[in-house]
Amino acid sequence: MNVVLVGPPGAGKGTQAAALEEKTKLKHIASGELFRQHMRDETELGKLARTYVDRGELVPDDIVITMILERIFQPDCEHGVILDGFPRTKEQAAALERALEEHQQKIDAVIFLNAPRDVLLKRIVGRQTCRNCQTPYNIYYSPPREEGVCDLCGGDLYTRSDDNMETARHRLEVYLQQTAPLIEHYRALGLLHEVDGLGDIHEVTARLVRELGINGELPHQPRT
Ligand code: AP5
Repeated sequence: MNVVLVGPPGAGKGTQAAALEEKTKLKHIASGELFRQHMRDETELGKLARTYVDRGELVPDDIVITMILERIFQPDCEHGVILDGFPRTKEQAAALERALEEHQQKIDAVIFLNAPRDVLLKRIVGRQTCRNCQTPYNIYYSPPREEGVCDLCGGDLYTRSDDNMETARHRLEVYLQQTAPLIEHYRALGLLHEVDGLGDIHEVTARLVRELGINGELPHQPRT
């Protein structure tokens, strides 16, 4: 089973993809997190990605497509994937569909997660992330027990370089121009499930699970 999560920055894609991964055997693949890992490791790809990520611009399609298609056919994705943040353009969507078809696979569902703009901005500027295990916190909605320290691993919390108000506003513009058109594409294919991203994190997870009809069970069979 392959699931795509699409939605504006701050909608909760990463949070919900992690929750779904826990409930299923699907592998959570986040394009933004792959870039941030390269940026932390200071690879050539990371240095290039930083010039786009820090401005809230999309990394060019050819780079993202190569990175993601290499990742999703690895053995740890044999039960399927939850794609978080990819595809984000029509070109990326077409490349994904072609590659899945070549592997006799398909997208099974596209979840469109959304929330009002003021909530999205508050979630983004309030986000803090663990430097060690990448667990997200939020100073407004889900603060850590001890300020600046991860509840789970004790790692330091940091603010992403693109999580300031100016860049967040620009990311929302970029989303509306380049990614939102994908929603109609997936609706036309009959794959779209709209899920309200507003409310308690666990409530939103329950909505997703209902929409996907997985009832906390999984797709246990490996992909063919
Ligand atoms: P990426 O990392 O994908 O960022 P994004 O899409 O802007 O999404 P966010 O991570 O901001 O939000 P989210 O929806 O995952 O929300 P989250 O669960 O974290 O991309 C970063 C950059 O990488 C891009 O700008 C681009 O440069 C590049 N890039 C990535 N993919 C690319 C691609 N395909 N093509 C080209 N370039 C690409 O939640 C946000 C906060 O809200 C957290 O603090 C969380 O704790 C909190 N929260 C979540 N849900 C709730 C809730 N229900 N109630 C209260 N708080 C909540």
